[in-house]
Amino acid sequence: MANVLIAGCGYVGTGLGIHLATLGHQVWGLRRDPGSLPPSMEPLAADLTNPETLTAIPPNLHTVFYTASPDQSDESGYRAAYIEGLGNLLEALKAQEQRPRVIYTSSTAVYAQQDGEWVDETSVTTPEYFSGRCLLEGEQCLQSSGFPSTIVRLSGIYGPGRTRMIQTVQEGSAMYQDGQPRYTNHIHRDDCVGGLAHLMAMDQPDSIYLGVDHEPADRKELLNWLAKRLNAPAPQVAGSLLSSSASRQARNNKRCKNAKLINSGYMFRYPTFREGYTSLLAANSA
Ligand SMILES: NC(=O)c1ccc[n+]([C@@H]2O[C@H](COP(=O)([O-])OP(=O)(O)OC[C@H]3O[C@@H](n4cnc5c(N)ncnc54)[C@H](OP(=O)(O)O)[C@@H]3O)[C@@H](O)[C@H]2O)c1
Repeated sequence: MANVLIAGCGYVGTGLGIHLATLGHQVWGLRRDPGSLPPSMEPLAADLTNPETLTAIPPNLHTVFYTASPDQSDESGYRAAYIEGLGNLLEALKAQEQRPRVIYTSSTAVYAQQDGEWVDETSVTTPEYFSGRCLLEGEQCLQSSGFPSTIVRLSGIYGPGRTRMIQTVQEGSAMYQDGQPRYTNHIHRDDCVGGLAHLMAMDQPDSIYLGVDHEPADRKELLNWLAKRLNAPAPQVAGSLLSSSASRQARNNKRCKNAKLINSGYMFRYPTFREGYTSLLAANSA
């Protein structure tokens, strides 16, 4: 069984830690405030942006998952979480002469495509916004670090406790752009956990995978499907004056392929939003 560190151990990291501990691995969860981590994980209080706090890294690490995310939605927050924190952790590992595989959760925000194109691991990455640029720079730092590495570009994560879309549909405030389909990409939290654990178990995982489910969903179709299930009012067409969240949605229109992850042997528990949200709705009404 392996020693595993999950750095930036939040929603996905905690689910992953619980799962790996169940399989018999020894798992440390690193975050600034590790008080809420479950007893099956070893808590490690540290700030990735402060190298002086990164001296108690556990020994003989087989795998490090880097799953931190910014707590500020501006460029300095993104740089701190995705580039500086990663660099500090890699330096701390080097200082201890450790050479684990580092698995970094990036995002499909590294793709600028917004005309409904299909994208995969080989597609061009020319992010227009600082979020995608910082993630891409973090990926490049890891790839040039000399550590064995795997990058997983996740799409929008939903799951227990991450049910904002259900709430907006229930409240009748969900909106979509009329006209051509606008594709959104999703992955259930349990498939983030399952996919990451699967990559850790592989002998030679590749350097980049997309972490998305089988079916890019037209936002209009997804919202209408949810509204029907919830007996909620039909979602509205967004007006011409777009809110910042509606304009973010308007930019968001690509179709991400998961063939590489599937071909590596991973089987999705929730292949599309239908299975994932059916399970969430069942749990909510229980
Ligand atoms: N959520 C999505 O829809 C989505 C989409 C695409 C990609 N991703 C990527 O998937 C990964 C996992 O996302 P998530 O939703 O699980 O994130 P999350 O719940 O926000 O967890 C991130 C954790 O990082 C810790 N953290 C932040 N800054 C830190 C620092 N300076 N030092 C130590 N720990 C720090 C935070 O804990 P403390 O505050 O206690 O430090 C937090 O628990 C992230 O890399 C994210 O970028 C997420």
